[in-house]
Amino acid sequence: MVLDVVIMAAGKGTRMKSARPKVLHPLAGRPLLQHVLEMGIRLGAARLITITGHGAEQVETVMRTALPEAPLAFVRQEPQLGTGHAVQQAVPELPETGTTLILNGDVPLVRVQTAQALIDACAGERLALLTVDLADPTGYGRILRDGEAVLAIKEHKDATPEQRLIREGYTGMMAVPTAHLKRWLANLGNDNVQGEYYLTDIVAMAVADGVPVVATKAGSETEVLGVNSPLQLADLERRFQRQQAEALMEAGVRLADPTRFDLRGDLTCGRDVDIDVNVIFEGTVTLGDEVSIGANCVIRNATIAAGAVIHPFTHIDGESLGVDIGAGALIGPFARLRPGAKLGAEVHIGNFVEVKNSTMARGAKANHLAYLGDATVGERVNYGAGSITANYDGANKHRTTIEADVHIGSNCVLVAPITIGAGATIGAGSTVSKSAPAGQLTVARGQQASISTWTRPTKPAKSGA
Ligand code: UD1
Ligand code: CA
Repeated sequence: MVLDVVIMAAGKGTRMKSARPKVLHPLAGRPLLQHVLEMGIRLGAARLITITGHGAEQVETVMRTALPEAPLAFVRQEPQLGTGHAVQQAVPELPETGTTLILNGDVPLVRVQTAQALIDACAGERLALLTVDLADPTGYGRILRDGEAVLAIKEHKDATPEQRLIREGYTGMMAVPTAHLKRWLANLGNDNVQGEYYLTDIVAMAVADGVPVVATKAGSETEVLGVNSPLQLADLERRFQRQQAEALMEAGVRLADPTRFDLRGDLTCGRDVDIDVNVIFEGTVTLGDEVSIGANCVIRNATIAAGAVIHPFTHIDGESLGVDIGAGALIGPFARLRPGAKLGAEVHIGNFVEVKNSTMARGAKANHLAYLGDATVGERVNYGAGSITANYDGANKHRTTIEADVHIGSNCVLVAPITIGAGATIGAGSTVSKSAPAGQLTVARGQQASISTWTRPTKPAKSGA
């Protein structure tokens, strides 16, 4: 059975008070609409048709870039004359048969199982509605029933005081046989309090046509909540983060505080992983067994091997090249690892050390105030405090090679391209612009001199007053 998904996302989102289209505001690092589209992909939809209006071009560009492989289609709704009018715009894109699932672009946490249950309830021949019992259903369309049988949806603004007492509300999600949907949409009117074309009017049409209507209740309130304001966005973000934190803890990960944990992407953890408070994970992060992450770290696109310790306030961003940290490495506090930092086992990176596009072999150390860019560092190298690779000549970047067992003194400048041979020692304060031979001491700085005849200047004596 062919499944098509129609997502309504033309609304302005006035209450966000933002220049950005509402459905592009991020939840857990991804636009609201992307969450909905990804669920459609997981359902195996043949087409994902998004109705855009406000900020249409931006919405379309961002989504096509984020999901280049997905069967995306966009149709514009201009002006916006209601949810029925919105879905009418998708009609030319829809096939003659199959099932259409209608979703909202600003309801990001619907679970695949819930959507699948709705599709199953539709079974290609019934109108299946997702409903929810609400403590305060103000604003929602109410489900009108005769006994069990659903008769219609009445919008809040059109409902009588008696109908407004009904707690069962329409969530905005339905699965409809596509052929029926097309026929009903063609017959929608706008004779109501808001003068809008209501999608929800198709329920009464189905009843009149003798097409069975079934209402499935949502598993939780969280999965049907929409975002209309920054407050609601933050509320959904915390609910989502709590769900992710609980799933990780159930798998054995020890979070110091699940309310101070943020995952904006995918995190894979081994056994006995400890994560202290206020850590943010982004992109794809893998933590091996017994990894420990200190407080206030930001870690994006990185792989951290077993037993490594990331001390507090460390910033790791692999971007597209990734960052690899070897087993038993000690990183931070206050370290910065940038794209292409590939650190072997037992490497030590201390405070205020920046590493970019560099490999460091087993046991190499850079413990204080240093920069390593475009460098290849051998085993057991000790890279002194305050030393830097001068990797950029203003136009091109060059590599620095530091062979095994080298000792770079404090405050050295290694002007690339350059090779420091195995076992060499570079004296503190050297500016080294030619390769240094293995096994020797190389010093490149002014000679120390003491001048015995020198005297400090003195202030002239004040003339008497
Ligand atoms: C709608 C339902 C209501 C339901 C509620 C759940 C209708 C008539 N009513 O209410 O029964 O309880 O959702 O949240 O369907 N949109 C467009 N184009 C338009 C109008 C809306 O794309 O012309 C989009 C909005 O961007 C939004 C979604 O449709 O994503 C729902 O619109 P909204 O105005 O929030 O829903 P209501 O009409 O209030
Ligand atoms: Ca509305």
